[in-house]
Amino acid sequence: MWDDGRLCHGGDYNPEQWPAATWREDVALMRQARVNLVTVGVFAWSRLEPAPGRYEFGWLDEVLDLLHDGGIRVALATPTASPPPWFSQAHPDSLPVTADGVRLHHGSRDTYCAAAPAYRAAARGIAATLAARYAHHPAVAMWHVHNEYGTTCHCPHAEAAFRRWLTARHGDLHTLNAAWATSFWSQHYADWAHISTPRATQYLANPGHLLDFRRFWSDTLLAAYVEQRDLLKAVNPAIPVTTNYVLGDWVPVDHARWASEVDLVAVDHYPSAVDGGAEEQTALAADLARGWARHGAPERAGRPATWLLMESAANQIHTAGRMHTKEPGRMARHSLSHVARGSRGAMFFQWRAPLGGAERFHSALVPHAGPDSRVFRESVRLGETLDRLAEATAGEVAAPVALAWDAASGWALRHPGMPSDLPDQHDELAAAHRALWRTGYGCDVVLPGDPLDRYRLLVLPALYLASDATVDWVRDHVEAGGHLLVTYLSGVADPHARVRPGGYPGAFRDVLGIRVEEFHPLAADEQVLLSDGGTGRIWSETVHLTGAEASCAYVGGVLDGRPAVTRHRYGAGTAWYLSTRPDDDTYRRLVTEAARAAGVHPVCPDAPPGVEAVRRQGPEASWLFLLNHTDRPQRVPVTGVELLTGTVVATAVTVPAGGVAVVREDPDGR
Ligand code: GLA
Repeated sequence: MWDDGRLCHGGDYNPEQWPAATWREDVALMRQARVNLVTVGVFAWSRLEPAPGRYEFGWLDEVLDLLHDGGIRVALATPTASPPPWFSQAHPDSLPVTADGVRLHHGSRDTYCAAAPAYRAAARGIAATLAARYAHHPAVAMWHVHNEYGTTCHCPHAEAAFRRWLTARHGDLHTLNAAWATSFWSQHYADWAHISTPRATQYLANPGHLLDFRRFWSDTLLAAYVEQRDLLKAVNPAIPVTTNYVLGDWVPVDHARWASEVDLVAVDHYPSAVDGGAEEQTALAADLARGWARHGAPERAGRPATWLLMESAANQIHTAGRMHTKEPGRMARHSLSHVARGSRGAMFFQWRAPLGGAERFHSALVPHAGPDSRVFRESVRLGETLDRLAEATAGEVAAPVALAWDAASGWALRHPGMPSDLPDQHDELAAAHRALWRTGYGCDVVLPGDPLDRYRLLVLPALYLASDATVDWVRDHVEAGGHLLVTYLSGVADPHARVRPGGYPGAFRDVLGIRVEEFHPLAADEQVLLSDGGTGRIWSETVHLTGAEASCAYVGGVLDGRPAVTRHRYGAGTAWYLSTRPDDDTYRRLVTEAARAAGVHPVCPDAPPGVEAVRRQGPEASWLFLLNHTDRPQRVPVTGVELLTGTVVATAVTVPAGGVAVVREDPDGR
């Protein structure tokens, strides 16, 4: 079973790219690094089934036996993210078509349409064949279905499936026409057969049409996953099944909705910023993953949210067309940022760097330089560290601040007809999270409608779409004494992306005590001055107070003297509104004000700047993870036992420069 109490360490293992002699060395090195879980076969379809119905399992049999003998568990993948060349040749109608009608060809990966019947049948076929052969193999601890579901397509199969999905969603054309506001530009549909996927258009496409297309693909890909999962479970229900989600600003599917269909939320995370941005992105990614995991089946049954960092980079951060080498210690800090936030381990893409293929320069635990390398030595140390931290899995993050996340709001905000192309939900989420992270407040990610009783402060970062139920959810929270921080472009539209009238933000005017009359989007290099000395970027608005007070105003320009940030007592709580994106210092001041009003405290108020603190709280103990992102040793007052060194901490722990300390806290010391 995958969950044997240890934290997982390992990654994608591609033995099909190496001769058998290397497999033996791999197992020996894995044991040295205390690797205990590897994903095998993600892109191995053409080696498993070199011709239709002709299977070559000998190599995989041998690899699984070797791994098992070495005590290494396997997440066995179904290889459906990369059909073999013969499949594409035999089923050209399964090749994906882009929005402008170009049919893509074999030669990379993910070259299929997940709505094409032949592809789905072939995917079921290889999954069922693997299940029949390996579902009871003692090495197999988990099924890893596919890889990073997220493709779309505009082929005739996709179009037919889209129409079926629309019929199920809207029921009749009258409802669809109303939802998509098709009276605009003569788009009224009188026949389902007239509806195509949102292909390339002369000018702006219909926002409702685009949004439903995203939802359709999320549901279609989920159905493709579910049918594989069911085949695997049918053979051995005891083996958990999952698929690895992508994490970052690419949100191809509604990951939170998928959570209830996986036995374990598994995520891939690759920061795209260098400096401190990578640490902030990592913290947000892990908080998101935990938030999604809370929607999983085990969690709904009352068990702690369980998730796993399935892929990360052992070394490079890839940004702006360039790979940056991670400094010593950074890989471990990123890994432990995930573990601190609930991940059941730290896994990597990939075990051994390939010598050829498109990703030959992607980092690996065993780099091209071989095991006599800094990266491999760091992975050995990480294996030891993870073993020492296994006890912390008994703890859960208990954060007092909730950040709302909604995949559809992000999709809707990317419509090109928005008043500005600068606002982006992920970016707003990251800005709010960064302000909280830098001030040391722990936060959870929630979905609209989630229970809020454990949270004192709810933040809505560009929650653009709001249903009537979401309006009630927010109002009830504040009325009952909860606190609320809302950013611009929240609650502007309904779930079909139609504007809520009467002044923005239609959904939350009452609770915020404001009415926004006009938007004033800012240019990319433009700033507005604020009366508290700060600045705003990206956006500004004409805000009227209808009960709220201004906590700061715009200075100069057309909005001179008008409210920029407002505060409103509502019921027993308080609601803040940000009509612009404050600079980082101002944002931190604002979240601190809101958090203090809400009675929320930083995780570790005495942690020096640059030291990230995350607490996992268990029924009988708590574990304080301290990640020192500075280049100097840092002292943090705490008492307990430091697990990595096994030393008693009487008053304070010194966290090495760029290093980590994890303290099982003395319950009387807190
Ligand atoms: C994703 C994929 C991997 C690999 C990495 C590279 O996470 O799942 O196969 O391509 O990206 O970063």
